Amino acid sequence: MSLDPQAKQLNDLITPSHPQVLEMLSQRGKAIYFPKLGVLSQSAEANGKEINATIGIALEEDGSPLCLPSLSEAIKLPKANAFTYAPSPGRPDLRKLWKEMIVQKSPGLKSKTFSQPVVCSALTHGLSMAAYLFCDAGDKIILPDLYWENYDLIFNLAYGAELETFPTFTADGKFNVEGLRAKLNQGPRGGKKIVCLNFPNNPSGYTPLVDEAAAIVSVLTQAAEAGDKVVAILDDAYFGLVFEKGVYEESIFAPLCDAHPNLLAVKIDGATKEDYVWGFRVGFMTYGIQGGTPGLYEALEAKTGGAIRGNISNSSHPAQSLLLAAWSSPGYAAEKKRAFDLLKKRYEAVKEILASHPEYSEAFTALPFNSGYFMCIKPVKVDTEVLRKNLLAEYSTGTVNFGGILRVAFSATPTEKLPRLFENIYKAAKGLTA
Ligand SMILES: Cc1ncc(COP(=O)(O)O)c(C=O)c1O
Repeated sequence: MSLDPQAKQLNDLITPSHPQVLEMLSQRGKAIYFPKLGVLSQSAEANGKEINATIGIALEEDGSPLCLPSLSEAIKLPKANAFTYAPSPGRPDLRKLWKEMIVQKSPGLKSKTFSQPVVCSALTHGLSMAAYLFCDAGDKIILPDLYWENYDLIFNLAYGAELETFPTFTADGKFNVEGLRAKLNQGPRGGKKIVCLNFPNNPSGYTPLVDEAAAIVSVLTQAAEAGDKVVAILDDAYFGLVFEKGVYEESIFAPLCDAHPNLLAVKIDGATKEDYVWGFRVGFMTYGIQGGTPGLYEALEAKTGGAIRGNISNSSHPAQSLLLAAWSSPGYAAEKKRAFDLLKKRYEAVKEILASHPEYSEAFTALPFNSGYFMCIKPVKVDTEVLRKNLLAEYSTGTVNFGGILRVAFSATPTEKLPRLFENIYKAAKGLTA
C-alpha cells in the first residue's frame, strides 16, 4: 500500500518517541490519515465568508439547517446540534467532557497523560476501528474464552485476525492470569501481541478482583519489558457496574496507559450500557502509552478520525448532543445511581436465590460473577442447547446458549421474576435428566 504524504506526516509524528507504535499499526493503520487537504480544509477556509458554497448540507434562506418540521418539532435540541454533521472524531466539547468523566470514574487516571477520546458509533464500531488500525489478516488476538460473540465478526470475519483464547477461569474460580501469561509467552518475542480484555465481562459477568487486576497488569507489562509490542484493547462496555467489594472498580486502562513504552492501551467505552442508551450509538476510543507525546496522540487521534471518516463519516450528532446535555444536567448523578441500584438489587437477588437453593447445584453450577449485566450457569448433566430449547418450549423462559454455558441476563429480568427464572432452569434440567 503506497503511503499518502498526509499518512507519512502522521507516522513521522509517531516515530521520534515511539517507533514501536508504528510496528503495532496494521498496514491499514499505517496508511490511514485524517484528510487535512481537500474538501474539509477548503470548507474550513470558507468559514465566515459572505457566501459559503462549500458544505455538503442544505440550508434555509436564513442560513439555518434546512430540515423537515415533522422531525424538528419532535426534537427539542437546537437544529444545529441535531441535523448537521458532527466532526468525524466527534464533538470537541463531548470529547473533552468524556475525558474529564473517565478520570472522575477512574481516579487512577488523575495526573496521567493520555489521548483525547475520539467519538465512534458506539463500542462495536470502536472495536471495529481498533481492528482496522491494529489487526492485519493472520494476526492473533489473545483473549479469555468467555467473550462476546460479536468479536468473531469484528476481528475475524472483517479483518482476518485469529482469536487465540485461554480458559477464563482457573479450577478454583479465579481469573486465569497464568493462561494469559502462557499465551503471551507463545511464539517469538519482540513481535506484536494483541490482547483484548472485557471487564465486566460479557457473558460471564466477571471482573477481576483487585489482586487479579494487578497480576494482569504485571503480566502484560512483563511481556512489554521482554520486547513484545503489546496492544491492549480494553472493552469497557459495562464499566461501573461492579457489585461486590474487593472487585477492581477502575478501568484497567488506568494502570496500563503508562505501564511501558511497548504497551499501547486502547480504551473502548461509551454511553451504550453505562448510560442505558443502547440505540444512541455513541462510544469513545482513547489511547495511552508510557511517555506518549502530544504528537503521538495527535497522530493516533487523526488516524482514528480518518478511519471513522472512511467508514461511517461521523457518529450521530443528535445522540452526541443529547448525551452532552444529560452529562451536564444536575440530576444526572442521582439518575445513574437509581439505575445502578436497580441492577445491584437484581444481582443480589440472584446471589440470594442461589444461596438459598443448594439443590440447584444438582442441576447446574454458577460460574463466578460479580458485575455487569449477566451471569452464567453450566448445566451438570444436560446438553445446554437442549436445556435452552426446553426452557423456551415448556417454561416460556429465554436464555442464551454461549458455547455450552447458559447466559442469564438479570439486567433484563424484573426482580420479582428472578426466583421463577432459576426455578424454571432447575426444573427443566431435572426434567430432562429424569
Ligand atoms: C462486551 C461488549 N462489548 C461491546 C458491546 C457493544 O456495544 P455497543 O452497543 O455500544 O456497540 C457489547 C454489547 O452487547 C458487549 O457486550
